[in-house]
Amino acid sequence: MDLPATGHDPVLLAETLDALQVAPGKTIVDCTLGRGGHARAIAERLGPDGLLIGLDVDPRNLAFAQSRLEGVPCRVRLFHANFAELPDVLEVIGSDSNPEESDSDAKKSDSVPKKRGPAVRPLTGPLHVDGILADLGISTNQLFDQHYGLSFAQPMPLDMRVDPRIPRSAADLIAQMNETPLADLLFQLADERFSRRIARKIVEQRKLSPIVTTDRLADVVRSAIPSNRGGAPQKIDPATRTFLALRMAVNQEMENLEALLREAPKALASGGRFAVISFHSTEDRLVKQAFRTAEQVGQLQVLTSKPVIPSDRETALNPRSRSAKLRVAEKR
Ligand SMILES: C[S@@+](CC[C@H](N)C(=O)[O-])C[C@H]1O[C@@H](n2cnc3c(N)ncnc32)[C@H](O)[C@@H]1O
Repeated sequence: MDLPATGHDPVLLAETLDALQVAPGKTIVDCTLGRGGHARAIAERLGPDGLLIGLDVDPRNLAFAQSRLEGVPCRVRLFHANFAELPDVLEVIGSDSNPEESDSDAKKSDSVPKKRGPAVRPLTGPLHVDGILADLGISTNQLFDQHYGLSFAQPMPLDMRVDPRIPRSAADLIAQMNETPLADLLFQLADERFSRRIARKIVEQRKLSPIVTTDRLADVVRSAIPSNRGGAPQKIDPATRTFLALRMAVNQEMENLEALLREAPKALASGGRFAVISFHSTEDRLVKQAFRTAEQVGQLQVLTSKPVIPSDRETALNPRSRSAKLRVAEKR
């Protein structure tokens, strides 16, 4: 597949800008900078009094987004951070004694202190923001770059870590997990109905030799799944769900999303907007449920009774957008 020039096309861009009500002077957090597509469009609408705060766990995407944000009219603060660390990021910014001085034109990125030391008391407390965006998952360039070991479209080392701080790769996980927890993981994270067969086959095959490349794992998974002779042709490769589940497990995607869904509403100023773009049903279910719960306790008002999905035009131009779902809520 041909990569876009930036490595990734932002999905549901106009819909997201609209949902976040991006306007001059606002403070917006992009929790998943990626290649900076959404961030650049947001920054261009914030004006000199606006502030864009950007986070990414991947230092390579962070550096790319940083260069793409050079020259934007607003102030920019970028962090190599997990969005589960959002409260720490906002506390760091809120505690800056002179934010004007440190808000450079994306000249540097910060990292979040490992632990908040009791001696460093914020002067003003955590910052409250007008909008928070999370565009979940991975960017197109990450999927096809050997460095990340995420794709079975071509042979590459089986890794899947988008954050280099993560200790265990997918190959480690495949080598170390027992059969039953491995099957549970495939079923729970990716609704894989052949999870038991796949886990059994992985355990059988790893005894012969370690599974350390994406093409070998894909072959092992395909060999575990009953052939579909005479049935309807399969729309997706049978290895797709296993790869999705492993990526989610390696990067602790559900745990991080749960933390974000818990913390983001607290970080919003009254009337602030929270927009989440998800790409598969396990994520979307979690977002929908968290929004509903926050609405029940009077914290958020859900603005999308049904998720916003890409137009036919967008899916024709960018087929990878076809599973995207945008949900939006407003802080009460
Ligand atoms: C779908 S891409 C975002 C694309 C971006 N909106 C754009 O327009 O280029 C997702 C990005 O989120 C990052 N990411 C994934 N999980 C994260 C997390 N828990 N915290 C921060 N960044 C994360 C990935 O490294 C990737 O760069």
